[in-house]
Amino acid sequence: AVEQQFAPRLVAWQKTHGRHGLPWQVRDPYRVWLSEIMLQQTQVAAVLGYYPRFLDRFPDLATLAAAPVDDVLACWSGLGYYTRARNLHKAAQMVVSDFGGVFPAERHAIETLPGIGRSTAAAIAAFCFGRRETILDGNVKRVLARCFGVDGYPGDKQVEAQMWQLAERLLPADNADMVAYTQGLMDLGATVCSRGKPACTACPMVDGCVAAREGRTAELPVKKPK
Ligand code: ADE
Repeated sequence: AVEQQFAPRLVAWQKTHGRHGLPWQVRDPYRVWLSEIMLQQTQVAAVLGYYPRFLDRFPDLATLAAAPVDDVLACWSGLGYYTRARNLHKAAQMVVSDFGGVFPAERHAIETLPGIGRSTAAAIAAFCFGRRETILDGNVKRVLARCFGVDGYPGDKQVEAQMWQLAERLLPADNADMVAYTQGLMDLGATVCSRGKPACTACPMVDGCVAAREGRTAELPVKKPK
């Protein structure tokens, strides 16, 4: 019963209390992809300073694919983790060579591109194409571990597989809710169900949350065993 309430509550919460007006909240897969790669290892505030400049220099996927890699690295300068920029450039060339220049909509196809794992592929498929695919990054693992009382270490292969299955069961029934739902997962983990001091009184899940009920928000998710 708690599982069935998760998606509708999260969607309603995102619409009123989630983050809106970020420059990558668009349907263009190139822009969403770029933002997800930048946000993998860089905070939102820092990305906001680089994202518009990158798009100024490389406004679309074809421009990025045709550019010398050194130009891409120069534009990435300051963001760090330069493998991201090399993979971005290579992936743009692969979209041209393998997908006729059209960004693929299917999660499995998106995952074939360098630098894009399952969760990032799912974010692009959900945000741009309304696909029922679930994200599962560190923030989402924290939300699920607390809400559903997942007791194992989420870095453990079997626990992680269990979390992917749980995350898939939680997806909204309607594709039309996938944008708000996916953004809601990210927003809840970043703003309410934070690592340090979660704001449980502001959480739409508080009455069904195992960790809130049992006073275990500090214990969940389980830390890496030594
Ligand atoms: N981190 C990763 N993706 C994000 C998004 N779409 N909005 C805010 N933070 C994010």
